[in-house]
Amino acid sequence: KTEYPHINKGLDGIVAFSTTKSFIDGKSGELIYSGYNIDTLAENATFEEVCFLLWNDRLPNQQELENLKNELISQRELPSPVLEYIKTTSKDAEPMAVLRSAVSMLADFEKPDTGSGDEESIHHAVSITAQMPTIIAAFDRVRNGKDIIAPKKEGSTAFNFLYMLNGEEPGEAAEKTMDLCLILHAEHGMNASTFTARTICATESDMFSAITGAIGALKGPLHGGANTAVMNMLLNLKEQGEKADPVAFTKEKLSRREKIMGFGHRVYKTFDPRAFHLRKMSKKLSEETGQQKLYEWSEAMVKTMKEEKDIDPNVDFFSATVYYSIGIKPDLYTCIFAMSRISGWSAHYMEQAANNRLVRPRALYIAEKNLDWTPVEDR
Ligand code: SDX
Repeated sequence: KTEYPHINKGLDGIVAFSTTKSFIDGKSGELIYSGYNIDTLAENATFEEVCFLLWNDRLPNQQELENLKNELISQRELPSPVLEYIKTTSKDAEPMAVLRSAVSMLADFEKPDTGSGDEESIHHAVSITAQMPTIIAAFDRVRNGKDIIAPKKEGSTAFNFLYMLNGEEPGEAAEKTMDLCLILHAEHGMNASTFTARTICATESDMFSAITGAIGALKGPLHGGANTAVMNMLLNLKEQGEKADPVAFTKEKLSRREKIMGFGHRVYKTFDPRAFHLRKMSKKLSEETGQQKLYEWSEAMVKTMKEEKDIDPNVDFFSATVYYSIGIKPDLYTCIFAMSRISGWSAHYMEQAANNRLVRPRALYIAEKNLDWTPVEDR
C-alpha cells in the first residue's frame, strides 16, 4: 500500500519564511508591525511613517520622514503611455484589473531591479507606492467621463488620493479616515498576496512582477476582494427597504452553506484587531452621514455570526462601510487595500531578496502512470 505524505491544504500552519515585518497572534488578536502594536500605530502614526517603518524596520526621524514624503510626492505622476492606457481601456474594466495592468506597465519605464534587493528596489517601492493612487483615481475619473486630475505636489498620500478622486481637497476628517485605513491595511504576515510577491521575488524576478502578481492574488473575494463583496451584500439588503432583515439574511446564507463575506480568518480565531478600529470609524461615520442602518445591520450580522458559527469579522467587514461613508464606490475598495499593502509587499520583496532561496514546494501526484499510447483516430 502506497504511503501518502500529509498534504497541508492551503499551506495551513506552514511556516515558510522568517520576517521582521509583522507578527500576528491569532488567539489573542495581536498584530505588530516591525515592533509596534497596531493600536499604537493607529493612534500615532501616518501611512508614510508606516511605509518607512516596514522598509527600514525602524521609525524615521524628522528629516528622514520629510525626505520620504518629498520623494513620494515627486514620483506621483504617471508615464504618459500608462495614462494613455487608462484613458483608452474599457470603461467597464474591473478597477483591480486596470491597476494590475498599469502597475505591470510601469516597469517599462524603470531600470529593472534584479531581485537582489539592490538600490533600485527601494526606489521602486517608493515609486509604485506613489503611483498606485494616481492610477486608481485616474481610472475612476475616466470611466465616469470626467477629466483626470493631476496629483498635487504637496500633501499626504491619503489627502492626494481623495483630491485626485473627487476633484476637491478633502477635509481633515476624511483625510484622517483614509490615512488610518491605509495604516491598518499596510502589512499582514504571510497572507496570500504577500506569499505570491515573495514567491515571485524568489525566482530573482523584478519588483514590478512581484507586485503585479500580488495585486492579482489580492483581487479574489477570499482575500482583498471581500470588502467590495461586503458592501454589495449590505447594499442588497438596503434595496429590500423596510423588509431588510440582516439576521434572517445571514442565517439563510449559512443554511445554504454559503460564506458570509468579511468574516473568518485563517489565523485569527478571535476579533481581528484591525476590525476594532474600523468598527469604531464605521459607527461614527455612518451616524454622521445618516447611514446608521448600514452600521446597525453590520452589527446584527456580527452578532448572528458569533452565535451561529463563533466566527468574527475580519479587516474587510467594517472597512466597507467606512469607505462607503466617505463616498468611495464599492468596486474601488480592493484597490485601496492594494494602495496600502504595496508597503508590506515591497518590504517583503526586499526582505526575501536579501536572503533568498527559490520557493519550490512539491505536489502529490494522484493520477495513473505509464499508460499505453492510443493513436488519435482510435480515441
Ligand atoms: C483578508 O491572511 C491574511 O492576512 C488576509 C488578510 C490580510 O490582511 O491580508 O487579513 C485580508 O483576506 C481577509 C479575509 C477576507 N475574506 C473573506 O472575508 C471571505 C469570507 N471568509 C472565508 O471564506 C474564510 O474565512 C477565509 C478564506 C478568510 C479563511 O479560510 P480558511 O482558513 O480556509 O477557513 P475555511 O474556509 O476552511 O473555514 C473553516 C470553517 C468552515 O466551517 P466547517 O466546514 O468546518 O463547518 O469556518 C467556516 C467554514 O465554512 N467559515 C465560514 C466563513 N469563514 C469560515 N462560514 C461562513 N462564512 C464565513 N465567512
